[in-house]
Amino acid sequence: MREIRVAPTGEPAVVRAGLPEPGPGEVLVRNRWFTVFAALRTLLAGGVPGAPLPALRPGDTLFGPAIGEIVGGPDAGALVRHMRGWREYAAVPVSEIDPVSPALPDPVAHFAQGTTAYGALTRAAPIRPGDTVFVSGGAGSVGTMAGQIARLLGAGRVVGSTGSAWKAERMRELGYDAVVTRPLDEQLAKAAPDGVDVLFDNVGGGDLRAAIAAANRSARFALVGALSGQLAQHGSGTTGPVEIDSYQVILKQITMTGYSAGGDAEVRAEWDARFAEWLSAGRIEFPHVLVDGIEQAPQALRDVWAGRHFGTVVVTLT
Ligand SMILES: NC(=O)c1ccc[n+]([C@@H]2O[C@H](COP(=O)([O-])OP(=O)(O)OC[C@H]3O[C@@H](n4cnc5c(N)ncnc54)[C@H](OP(=O)(O)O)[C@@H]3O)[C@@H](O)[C@H]2O)c1
Repeated sequence: MREIRVAPTGEPAVVRAGLPEPGPGEVLVRNRWFTVFAALRTLLAGGVPGAPLPALRPGDTLFGPAIGEIVGGPDAGALVRHMRGWREYAAVPVSEIDPVSPALPDPVAHFAQGTTAYGALTRAAPIRPGDTVFVSGGAGSVGTMAGQIARLLGAGRVVGSTGSAWKAERMRELGYDAVVTRPLDEQLAKAAPDGVDVLFDNVGGGDLRAAIAAANRSARFALVGALSGQLAQHGSGTTGPVEIDSYQVILKQITMTGYSAGGDAEVRAEWDARFAEWLSAGRIEFPHVLVDGIEQAPQALRDVWAGRHFGTVVVTLT
């Protein structure tokens, strides 16, 4: 079988490996899909102490969300999701697998990063009817879900940012009322003429500064990601430094809450139910790109970092 490991250079590379042998309490899973996600840059750069996912070192196999079918045993053929992606076969502890519920029409929809988006917009910065919501990094895996969820939760106006001008049209089709392209400068104030009530922040950096400048009094900010630091061309990839005007935060009485979905089972259960309902009613979509074959995965990861994809990137294993 093939898997993707960190080469001595630090680059992900496809290698051949023996079929894993499941130990006690494990099952063998033949992976059918796994996702390619931006935060791997941070893990490959040494990770961040206290973060939910560990660092990746040379020789390690990459990991991340995957869906596959159990091979052998009483549950043979059952579709399960787990975190041992980036390999064709995985030995996975039974305690770390979740059955793939048939509630969603396509198993791939289980990769939607809605738990994070829904949790932040219902817990960290709850949406009130008519709010103007700004989603920084609105074209990414989390951002494409956050923009749609904001609307479904009652936002009056939804504005998104991107660094790639070609994505603006796709974002409008997805339901964004306005799209601003980095560097934001004065654009956000024009795109949100009544001011920003809620920020869903995937980016930090200049996007966070612009949101503070455009914020209304008592605005609520959910800080979810730090892409400006994680994907900075010359940064370490492990920090998200930003200089903000704290005086404006004080004057406007802005509330900033860091949000990590982590393993919040309550949020996940609530989101799973709402997603199934919204999907079947045609009120939400799961924007994603399918990349065919494990050999394409290292390039797909570089493409995610470079902003060449829209939504979530999923590798299909045939
Ligand atoms: N808190 C949590 O529980 C949680 C859970 C999951 C993910 N996250 C975090 O949420 C953030 C978004 O994750 P994601 O998987 O959805 O990533 P993503 O948005 O799909 O990341 C890729 C995108 O980042 C943008 N980008 C590239 N270089 C950039 C730069 N220098 N500055 C700003 N944006 C840049 C590009 O979009 P454009 O072309 O549109 O610029 C690119 O397409 C990440 O920081 C991730 O670690 C947090």
